[in-house]
Amino acid sequence: MDNLTEIRKNIEACDDVIIDALTNRMNYIEDIIAYKRKHGIAVFQPEQEKKQKKLLQEKLKEHKYEEEIEDIFRYIIENSKKIQAKSLFQKNIILVGFMGAGKTTVSKYLGKMLALNIVETDELIVEKEKKSIREIFSEYGEEYFRNCESNIILELKNSSHLVISVGGGAVLRDMNIRNMKKNGKIVLLTAKPQTVLERVKDSDERPILSGHMNTEFISMLMEKRKARYEEVADVVVSTDGKDIQEICEEIIGKIAEDQ
Ligand code: S3P
Repeated sequence: MDNLTEIRKNIEACDDVIIDALTNRMNYIEDIIAYKRKHGIAVFQPEQEKKQKKLLQEKLKEHKYEEEIEDIFRYIIENSKKIQAKSLFQKNIILVGFMGAGKTTVSKYLGKMLALNIVETDELIVEKEKKSIREIFSEYGEEYFRNCESNIILELKNSSHLVISVGGGAVLRDMNIRNMKKNGKIVLLTAKPQTVLERVKDSDERPILSGHMNTEFISMLMEKRKARYEEVADVVVSTDGKDIQEICEEIIGKIAEDQ
């Protein structure tokens, strides 16, 4: 055997060791999830994540391959989060709720926490139509917008492990509800009319509220849609007065309970 072949054989052996170590590490991740679920401990603990990162940095300080190994660990940790998320939810997480209930903010944070990709139906519509929501409403009308929305929801029916946030009116059509239910855990986010107004008052991208930016109108429309929201929801989380970490932990906890 020449020298190069021998070195390559050694690398192959290293890869086997890495595979075994990663398999062990991932199995431990599954053990952690099972333990946390059994004992009602929060699944995602940012403090622990920070501690772990610091420990790793200390171990690798002045190491010959400090930068490279740290880079690899970023992937390892990201994938551990994915394993946690996948073991907790087999389906998509679909966020529904009134405008300004916090769907966009929550989906971004939840996506990061769980290392899952996020999708916004409104954003996909804007991309496909190459027009803003306001332009779509004013040029083609609400019915056209609702058809675009239904088509996107239909397309997403066969996906999994995504955090999807749908527009506030998506629950109005039965077919959307049926398609969302096929592969999604549906999380209803709620907020008081006053909170909604605070969050959306400067937006000109909410044609439904244009000319009606007041709590009376918001309360009235919310009341009108309430039964639809509640009918579709697997879990309900209020966002009033809570920080984003709290909201996302509550969502994860409630979904895990609801399996
Ligand atoms: C709508 C909500 C909006 C958007 C459209 C219609 C509604 O989405 O889909 O303006 O009917 O409630 P957000 O809930 O994300 O604002």
